[in-house]
Amino acid sequence: MSRYQTLEVTAAGPVLHVRLNRPDVRNAFNGAVVEELQAAFAAANDDTNARVVVLSGNGKSFSAGADLSWMQEQASLPQLANEVGADRMARMFLAIARCTKPVVGRIHGHALGGGTGLTAAVDIAICTEDCQFGLTEVKLGIVPAVISPFVMQKIGAGRARTLFLTGERFDGREAQRIGLVHRAVPEAELDAAVEKSVGELLTAGPAAVASAKELIRGVASLSLEDAIPVTSKWIAALRSTPEAREGFAAFLGKRKPNWIA
Ligand code: COA
Repeated sequence: MSRYQTLEVTAAGPVLHVRLNRPDVRNAFNGAVVEELQAAFAAANDDTNARVVVLSGNGKSFSAGADLSWMQEQASLPQLANEVGADRMARMFLAIARCTKPVVGRIHGHALGGGTGLTAAVDIAICTEDCQFGLTEVKLGIVPAVISPFVMQKIGAGRARTLFLTGERFDGREAQRIGLVHRAVPEAELDAAVEKSVGELLTAGPAAVASAKELIRGVASLSLEDAIPVTSKWIAALRSTPEAREGFAAFLGKRKPNWIA
């Protein structure tokens, strides 16, 4: 029996599928989803068989963002409990972004509010061309607060100034144009596009992929000069790992490295 009430988590070889499973409310997330997504991504970190995580949503839409009944309940709590709940919600996005395995998002239907936030939190988001995104919070009298760092890392402050303030919806093609998603494809091609990215990730050295995620985080805020001691130490350490030795030997020996099945 699944340990999750609001998610469907299944393994297909080295690929761990995490599916939001509240289709009746378009996968809006409440406190249970917040807890379970954090648990699922912590488990993915510890799962030695998992090399890639695919995050998707069951039913018509990827996610309609925060469950507004739950938001209403949270708002009526005493201030400290309200803040603790918001902190947990923020940490759900962080758990996805900081997952030690690469995370691919399969985004379809709607990804509104926190659904756009979940899209921003994954490493590689692939969506349908007609998928509807939007930082719609202002339409409800709130702001996209906890998701703002994740979204702004992808689209930048300039675009946020329009999209956070208007709450306007935009489609998958526009999401690709502004850098929120990696690719937007016709609906019939969505699964193939996700599989292609997963396939690419599975041909990469697992430790190198994890290190690449950390590298991006490590150099993002450094000047070119300040980056030099960090990046030179990084490659010096990485090129002497067992995985790199195998990768070099495989290339020079004209064979596949041992992490490719
Ligand atoms: N929180 C709680 N319930 C939600 C929800 C949300 N964020 N989004 C959808 N639902 C519920 C609806 O109330 C409806 O419930 P009902 O069947 O009891 O009436 C059910 O999910 C289906 O929604 P519906 O609007 O009928 O589906 P749709 O496919 O026509 O439209 C959306 C889907 C996502 C476009 C639309 O539901 C929507 O705009 N949701 C709000 C998105 C939003 O603003 N999110 C930001 C939250 S901060």
